[in-house]
Amino acid sequence: MHKLGIIGYGGMAGWHHNSIKSNFDDLQVVAAYDIDPARLEVAEKNGLKAYKTAEEFLDSHDFDVVLVATPNNFHCEYVCRALEAGYNVVCEKPVAMSVKELDRMEETAKRTGHLFSVHQNRRWDQDYRIMKEAYDTGMIGKPFTIESRVHGQGGMVHGWREFKVAGGGMVYDWGVHLIDQLLDMIDSKVVSVYANLHSVRTPEVDDYFKLVFRYENGITAHVEVGTFNLVQLPRWYACGDGGALVINDWDCHGKIIHTRDTVMKWEPVVVQTKAGPTRTMAPRPADTLEELPLPHVETSWSCFYRNILDTIDGKAELIVTIPSVRRVLQVIEACFESDRTGEGIKTDI
Ligand SMILES: NC(=O)c1ccc[n+]([C@@H]2O[C@H](COP(=O)([O-])OP(=O)(O)OC[C@H]3O[C@@H](n4cnc5c(N)ncnc54)[C@H](O)[C@@H]3O)[C@@H](O)[C@H]2O)c1
Repeated sequence: MHKLGIIGYGGMAGWHHNSIKSNFDDLQVVAAYDIDPARLEVAEKNGLKAYKTAEEFLDSHDFDVVLVATPNNFHCEYVCRALEAGYNVVCEKPVAMSVKELDRMEETAKRTGHLFSVHQNRRWDQDYRIMKEAYDTGMIGKPFTIESRVHGQGGMVHGWREFKVAGGGMVYDWGVHLIDQLLDMIDSKVVSVYANLHSVRTPEVDDYFKLVFRYENGITAHVEVGTFNLVQLPRWYACGDGGALVINDWDCHGKIIHTRDTVMKWEPVVVQTKAGPTRTMAPRPADTLEELPLPHVETSWSCFYRNILDTIDGKAELIVTIPSVRRVLQVIEACFESDRTGEGIKTDI
């Protein structure tokens, strides 16, 4: 049986607690530390031992795994302290505010010899797993462009996420997930990054950004996250030399359109449209295309903790490794630099 203590018993920590309760009989959440006494009361009501100071929490050794789920600017400090105190550590995403912070965390993990991983739970999202399955099995041929989007409508960024000092903004919030998915899926270096960030309704941090990056293998990746997109575009859109895929939403409605043959066996005709005549943009004959359903995939966020426990017990290799999240932070740093300079950044990530 493994036991978990949580630093920062807020919204996401509550989710971890409930999910572990429902999915695991070899992992139990037993303790929490938070700076907010109201959150400690909630922790106690939920059956946890609540600690009023980080020192008491870390000295207790009532548990063997620590989850750090504070606002982003506190991740580095707490992760290092927990590792030094002898615990295995899981940190919420984004693991850190910079590659420099991550260097310190990784050095501490290596020196102390404890497990250190990051809750990149969206590697197990159903929409992502479908996109990855289509990519891995060549369902759209060789992809040349993959677009990943999350569009909200509220125009609001909540709480500490509004502030720069806390690591707020959408690049750190949703961007970190969408970039992580694309780096996890495509095994090729990122050779250039262009990004443009906007503060549409949130003065201090980005509440909309567009990021385009290029892989060494030629694929173009496009990531767009917005909080004020009143018309929403599909979650995934990808084109390859043998087909195209769309996943419209988190419920995974969508389709794959596949070409029956790659050689054009019909005479191109000019069609008259309201925008004038065109041959290039004329529709293909319907019988050259085939519509396929999206592949079925089974997935669950609890795969993350299963892998953490199995790694601690020596039964598995860690999935969310520090080198993999380092690449995400490197792309994020290139995004900020591209936005600041207004230029594309050459990278070797
Ligand atoms: N993986 C995911 O899908 C996902 C989803 C939501 C949030 N998160 C991440 O989880 C973390 C927490 O986000 P949240 O939405 O739960 O925020 P939250 O504001 O709901 O909770 C943060 C908690 O940390 C406490 N806290 C603040 N400063 C602290 C400090 N110095 N020491 C100890 N406790 C402190 C707060 O009192 C609060 O209870 C963030 O890193 C966020 O990016 C991840």
